[in-house]
Amino acid sequence: MSQSALEASIASPETPGSKHFPPFVASPQLDEEANLRLAQFPDDQRRSAVLPILHFIQHHHGFISAEGIQWTADKVGIEPVKVLEVVTFYPGFRQSAPGKFHVRVCRTLSCAMGGSYELMNKLCELMKIDPDSLDPHHHPIAVSPCGTWSVEFAECLASCGTAPVALVNDDFHEGVGEDKAEALMKQYSSGNSH
Ligand code: FES
Repeated sequence: MSQSALEASIASPETPGSKHFPPFVASPQLDEEANLRLAQFPDDQRRSAVLPILHFIQHHHGFISAEGIQWTADKVGIEPVKVLEVVTFYPGFRQSAPGKFHVRVCRTLSCAMGGSYELMNKLCELMKIDPDSLDPHHHPIAVSPCGTWSVEFAECLASCGTAPVALVNDDFHEGVGEDKAEALMKQYSSGNSH
């Protein structure tokens, strides 16, 4: 991959959700975490530390920015394109900021038959998100104009018997028909999610 193609691939467009996440910084905590992870692998397998380092970055910054990819590559001692391959391979990693509350709706068979597409349409309507802006290959995440919400389809979340299911940030919700979309959002917008 040429340098400019690589730069384009790792660029992180601003989204309305960006205001909810601190920009990437190579903090002492990140360096400490990376050193800890790198120490767990032999020198010839340093690249195995990429995954936990990326998890740490996304947990603290909401997504994996170009700076995060470059920093990880420098730290591990591999090309940035190798880190980018990991980021784009795993659907759990994001390259742009989600909303403050990120909703992942399962769209695999049981959930699809149980109404997950109808749930997604209802969520988009309530969040003022254009459902056509969800493109699984290029724009898997759609963020509401206010930046509070974002949605994404996910593959089987391993609770097929309680379809349709959804994750809001790290919270699991079962049996979420479209009629429960508004109540689900209220749990979070009112600050009573736990
Ligand atoms: S199909 Fe949705 S959890 Fe398995």
